[in-house]
Amino acid sequence: MTQITTEALFETDADTDVEAGPELGPTGRPLPDLPEPTPPAQLGTRRALIIAMCNQKGGVGKTTTTINLGAALAETGRRVLLVDFDPQGSLSVGLGINPHTLETSIYNLLLTRDHDVHDIITESVVDGLDILPANIDLSAAEVQLVSEVAREQTLKRVLAQVRGEYDVILIDCAPSLGLLTVNALTAADRVLMPLECEFFALRGLALLNDTIGKVQDRLNPELEIVGILGTMYDSRTVHSREVLERVVQAFGDKVFHTVIRRTIKFPETTVAGEPITTYATNSPGAGAYRMLAREVLARCPGA
Ligand SMILES: Nc1ncnc2c1ncn2[C@@H]1O[C@H](COP(=O)(O)OP(=O)(O)OP(=O)(O)O)[C@@H](O)[C@H]1O
Ligand SMILES: [Mg+2]
Repeated sequence: MTQITTEALFETDADTDVEAGPELGPTGRPLPDLPEPTPPAQLGTRRALIIAMCNQKGGVGKTTTTINLGAALAETGRRVLLVDFDPQGSLSVGLGINPHTLETSIYNLLLTRDHDVHDIITESVVDGLDILPANIDLSAAEVQLVSEVAREQTLKRVLAQVRGEYDVILIDCAPSLGLLTVNALTAADRVLMPLECEFFALRGLALLNDTIGKVQDRLNPELEIVGILGTMYDSRTVHSREVLERVVQAFGDKVFHTVIRRTIKFPETTVAGEPITTYATNSPGAGAYRMLAREVLARCPGA
């Protein structure tokens, strides 16, 4: 497990002298030559890789990344399950599901044993991309779970029932480090941290890192950070570039080469209720999430 420190995030005099060359990506490092994704595992030998999208700061692109990384992975032929683990239900909305009209949701799976997970999973508009939806009921689960036995392992138990049916499961966390997020980190093999390219975004990383460390110590020693993803990047501003530079100084190769640029296309896809890979399939945003899918697969052999 790579040990990472966050001190370097706050250094102000750490100007790096990156030579501008044609091969350098937005993170200031040479772009890797990523292989074509290999075909997914054969049916019957599947055991989904579970990745939690986590950052307690709101509006950094967790949900957008869950939907679009999921859709890009599904394009490679993988079976992907997206888990809405935020009472706001934004993931569900982003895939055209109205959370208010749901009679059953992930809440019912967490708190009772009367429901079959297969009855609650819904197909999305994208082939191979399913969703386990959520709505505001989930906020009650956060309170109710507190008195349960093995309360941190509840989501893990639910996902164990479908793990053999998918190649990848992505969990969209709420902007908090409460019990729901701890459940997600306990269920996950990897955590992906989306990070808005603005200075205050860096502050929360130390706290998030701390929580991940505690979960590793007490609940899930196998948990690893798959990577940090710069989002809402604006290459025209010095600020965006500086923030990215700092993050690379602090986290090195944990930072994905792929960076998601700020574009109005993403809010538009939420209104449309579909991923950018189908809404604007040839757009740079769709291309970026396809590239991220390649990076994730390259970092997670076997997925
Ligand atoms: N690269 C981008 N460029 C422009 N807008 C974006 C980008 N990524 C996400 N957005 C928009 O920013 C808003 C917040 O994004 P998103 O919902 O993905 O963040 P989040 O981290 O899941 O938020 P929350 O913490 O509330 O769950 C949304 O309106 C989304 O459409
Ligand atoms: Mg969200």
